[in-house]
Amino acid sequence: MSSLSYPTELETYWLQVAKAETNGTAIRDILHRMMPDIRRLADRFTIARPDSAAADYLRDTRACAAYSLFFAPQTYARLSLVLAELPPFPETSQPLRVLDLGCGTGAASWALLDHLGRRPVALSVRDRSRAALRCLHDCFSALRQARWPDAILRTDPSPLEEFTVPSGKFDVILLHYVLNELPPDLRRTLLSRAARSLAPHGRLIICEPLVHDAGDYMRDLRAFALADLGLHILAPCPHSLACPLDGPCHDVRTWKLPQSLQILNSTLHRDLRHLAYALLVLSPSPLPASATLRARIVGSPSHAKGQTLCPACCSDGQTHRLQLLHRDFDTAGRKELRHLERGQVLRLASLQPLGDPSLFRAAPAP
Ligand SMILES: C[S@@+](CC[C@H](N)C(=O)[O-])C[C@H]1O[C@@H](n2cnc3c(N)ncnc32)[C@H](O)[C@@H]1O
Repeated sequence: MSSLSYPTELETYWLQVAKAETNGTAIRDILHRMMPDIRRLADRFTIARPDSAAADYLRDTRACAAYSLFFAPQTYARLSLVLAELPPFPETSQPLRVLDLGCGTGAASWALLDHLGRRPVALSVRDRSRAALRCLHDCFSALRQARWPDAILRTDPSPLEEFTVPSGKFDVILLHYVLNELPPDLRRTLLSRAARSLAPHGRLIICEPLVHDAGDYMRDLRAFALADLGLHILAPCPHSLACPLDGPCHDVRTWKLPQSLQILNSTLHRDLRHLAYALLVLSPSPLPASATLRARIVGSPSHAKGQTLCPACCSDGQTHRLQLLHRDFDTAGRKELRHLERGQVLRLASLQPLGDPSLFRAAPAP
């Protein structure tokens, strides 16, 4: 399980907003009063998914608080996991220019700002929900001094349909859990406009839920980005060949739920411990060449005496079953092997075919 946790300051902030909305007193009382709003939203994104046109779910402060209590910790954790696997953001002479498209109440942006530490950031956010932008702005103003003193914020209440390539470029563009709410042709248009808005070393970070009825649109967007837009892929694939997986590529990671979400889930009973999501990180520039091989775990690992076996997508564009011998790892590495999760990246020194053609021995990078 990943040890990352949701910052208490963010959890407390949204509890305070919910307290003002409900006139509740203690945490359990506030959460109990918010429960109908939260349940409606939680259902909306799972069992009661409407068509994308009916997406007015962030219509007022109460809806934004409900959204943020339930979804923001999950968003924060997902984006933190994605960011942790990327190499550091390239140096820039000015503040890092970040654009969050379909920002909602800001959880993805906060994860990025926290990841960047004290690096100066010019954050632009865009969403059609004015209530969400107002809440995001208030949250930023309340926490800025303590958490992000070197960041500045600009909000833009416009639909993504009207997003055109701006004159200035961005170093990072976030699209977190947004594309699935757009019609398929707009997904491609937006991807292409976002790609043209990136600085030469910029990164477009896309993360999406697994929506089974929507088909494998991330596979299509990946192929479109590489072949038609000339982008390079930084994650999840350790190669730029056609995706070798049978089904949608996705991660399934575990994390530590904050207290408020544990309380909510003692009533809602959703599977919140597992974060299942698809990601795509693209850039006009490739990753620098490295002697270290990367392999991404694409199934469940199994453990036998002295070894761990796991299916992984490898830098030759194929999936192989990897044999990881425990004796090749130090104590910390052996501990990690016991908790490997789908989507984790293994950094390897070598991959050697074994007698069984589907099995490769994988030695860890030093
Ligand atoms: C599921 S929420 C994700 C919010 C945020 N990215 C996060 O991860 O917390 C999707 C967001 O996209 C926004 N959105 C959806 N379609 C949009 C459109 N056509 N134009 C502008 N915003 C849109 C919604 O208002 C909502 O805030």
